[in-house]
Amino acid sequence: MRILVINGPNLNMLGKRETEHYGVDTLKSIEQALSRKGEELGCELVFFQSNHEGSIIDFIQEEAVPADGILINPGALTHYGYSLHDALVDSGLPAVEVHLSNIHAREDWRKTSVIADVTIGQFAGHKTQSYFMGLQALIDYIRSQEGK
Ligand code: DQA
Repeated sequence: MRILVINGPNLNMLGKRETEHYGVDTLKSIEQALSRKGEELGCELVFFQSNHEGSIIDFIQEEAVPADGILINPGALTHYGYSLHDALVDSGLPAVEVHLSNIHAREDWRKTSVIADVTIGQFAGHKTQSYFMGLQALIDYIRSQEGK
C-alpha cells in the first residue's frame, strides 16, 4: 500500500511557528515518525511539502496512479483551495484531512474546509497525533474497501 502524505504552505516552518497552535515538532521529525508507523502498518509513505498550490496539484496528478490514498494537511489552502479540492476529486483516491490545531476553535475563516466534502474524514486539534490518527483511519478505510 502506498500513501501520499502532503503538507501545504508554511508547514515547512513547524517547530518555530506559532508553537501554541502547532506544537514543537518539526515537519522532518513528524515525517520520520510517520514513516516508522507506516512500516509497522505495512505501507509505504511518500512525503511532499510545498508552499505552492500548483506544485501540490502537480504532485497529486503525477503520483495518484501508483497510490492508494492521501493524507493531507493543506495548511491555509484548507480554507480557499478550490483547485486543490478538484485535484483531490480527480485523483479518485480516498483522502483524510489533518490539522495540528483545532481549526474549529480559532478564527471564523479557519472553520471552513473547502476540501472536507471530498475526504473520508478530518482529524484536527491533536497536534502531531492528528497525523497518526489520520494515517490509521486512512489505512483502515482502504483495507476495508479493498481487502488489502
Ligand atoms: C493548519 C491550520 C490552518 O488554518 C493553518 O493555515 C495552517 C496549519 C493546522 O495544521 O492546524 O497552516 O492546517
